[in-house]
Amino acid sequence: MSTQQIVIVGAGILGLTTAQTISEKLNELGFKHEITIIAQYGPHNLEMNDSLTTYNEYVSPWAGAHFRPFPITTKEQKEEMKMTRQTLKYFKYLSENYKECSIKFIKGVEFIENPNEYYQDYAKYGYSEGLENFEKLETKPGILGFQYDTWVLNPTLYLQYIYFKLLLEFKIKFISKKLNSLSEINSIIQGNPIIINCSGNGLKYNGGVDPDSFPIRGQTLLLNPGPNYKSDKTVTIQLKDGSWVFTIPRPYNGGVILGGTKQINDTSLEVRDEDTKYLEKLGSIYFPELQKINAETNKPYFDIIRINVALRPGRKGGLNNSIEKFNDNKQFVINNYGAGGMGYELSYGSSLKTFENLLSILKIDNKSKL
Ligand SMILES: Cc1cc2nc3c(=O)[nH]c(=O)nc-3n(C[C@H](O)[C@H](O)[C@H](O)COP(=O)(O)OP(=O)(O)OC[C@H]3O[C@@H](n4cnc5c(N)ncnc54)[C@H](O)[C@@H]3O)c2cc1C
Ligand SMILES: *[C@@H]1O[C@H](CO)[C@@H](O)[C@H](O)[C@H]1NC(C)=O
Ligand SMILES: *[C@@H]1O[C@H](CO)[C@@H](O)[C@H](O)[C@H]1NC(C)=O
Ligand SMILES: *[C@@H]1O[C@H](CO)[C@@H](O)[C@H](O)[C@H]1NC(C)=O
Ligand SMILES: *[C@@H]1O[C@H](CO)[C@@H](O)[C@H](O)[C@H]1NC(C)=O
Ligand SMILES: *[C@@H]1O[C@H](CO)[C@@H](O)[C@H](O)[C@H]1NC(C)=O
Repeated sequence: MSTQQIVIVGAGILGLTTAQTISEKLNELGFKHEITIIAQYGPHNLEMNDSLTTYNEYVSPWAGAHFRPFPITTKEQKEEMKMTRQTLKYFKYLSENYKECSIKFIKGVEFIENPNEYYQDYAKYGYSEGLENFEKLETKPGILGFQYDTWVLNPTLYLQYIYFKLLLEFKIKFISKKLNSLSEINSIIQGNPIIINCSGNGLKYNGGVDPDSFPIRGQTLLLNPGPNYKSDKTVTIQLKDGSWVFTIPRPYNGGVILGGTKQINDTSLEVRDEDTKYLEKLGSIYFPELQKINAETNKPYFDIIRINVALRPGRKGGLNNSIEKFNDNKQFVINNYGAGGMGYELSYGSSLKTFENLLSILKIDNKSKL
């Protein structure tokens, strides 16, 4: 049997996770394959002075990152919800067995000031499904509060953790390249490779882009917290005016995220002072313990390590996990892009879905050893 070539475009959280899942499972089945990741940015592509947070076109290093459930109102959301719960279980396993991956389980606390009908009827809409130690909290009238076990991770550490596994354990090849279209892949990798599209919001498909894709700009502050801050929980408050303020402690001295904006169709990658001031104002009201005190002036201030800006790869209808024919119907593309603000949350689940799609193309029965 010849070796099946598989090319994954993208080395963000979806591309890397997909590579690991597929490689692991095809090895278990004894299926001969070779995986190449082609990506412009990622842990494989650091120039002398670059860090993973040098370029903000590359979204994954800029995420919080934590898991926060939401009430389900559409069929597509239900699919994504299933994936977030598969990921939750997988992350529990990783956190217990591979401390170096940086995933840690802590409390997730949420307050919703103006809850819609779906939050009010949260159990019916799947919000609490699959969550451990879920509790409804006592709050002021009109405000909903919840608590449950969630995970937090340090994105640059987790991305590098998967990268080194892929490189050293799974012998996956990495190529640094910006593609102008998927067709270019055939001049790099011979043998009619199956292409897996984990390109976030970066790839133009033969000059066009999925018209359903759109960016959701996020700006957050990464802080060195004050001495009274406790890193034992993430807290999210949905304010009456529809805006959000949240804190995410990042494991292994990763600082604390104070976020964050969700600006639909805003493509600016520049730090915006107006957004910084807004976040500082909300932070000083809801999370004063994040501040330090200036010894000379005695005034509180935020000790900012870095200001994060990136564009979440949003998509109408959410994640696209379809199989497409390509190149005069001679070649397959499996999509896995459009994760919006949930890339980490659904990373493992969507890699399982992608693997299922791959099996259907290869016409392999999941259970049979080859
Ligand atoms: C402020 C903020 C907070 C967030 N918080 C969370 C959170 O708490 N939890 C959570 O789950 N998610 C969170 N997210 C969302 C998460 O960051 C994204 O969903 C996720 O990073 C998307 O991953 P991806 O792999 O699809 O894309 P990316 O990380 O952008 O990776 C895309 C890859 O494709 C490559 N690529 C693209 N186009 C081309 C091309 N033409 N040629 C070659 N290579 C190409 C890129 O170089 C890169 O390697 C947050 C996002 C932001 C901005
Ligand atoms: C790396 O950064 C240092 C300090 O900023 C600078 O002097 C040096 O020229 C940089 N090197 C490269 C290869 O960019
Ligand atoms: C691949 O992903 C991009 C998003 O980066 C999307 O625009 C495109 O439609 C996807 N599919 C194909 C076949 O290019
Ligand atoms: C964002 O842009 C898309 C595509 O141009 C458009 O369909 C959508 O309505 C826009 N959304 C908002 C909230 O402006
Ligand atoms: C995914 O995108 C392709 C175009 O790139 C489209 O044909 C397909 O319907 C989309 N699938 C889903 C589930 O949205
Ligand atoms: C493989 O089979 C098992 C049990 O038969 C099933 O639960 C699982 O979803 C299948 N996985 C894939 C990737 O098809």
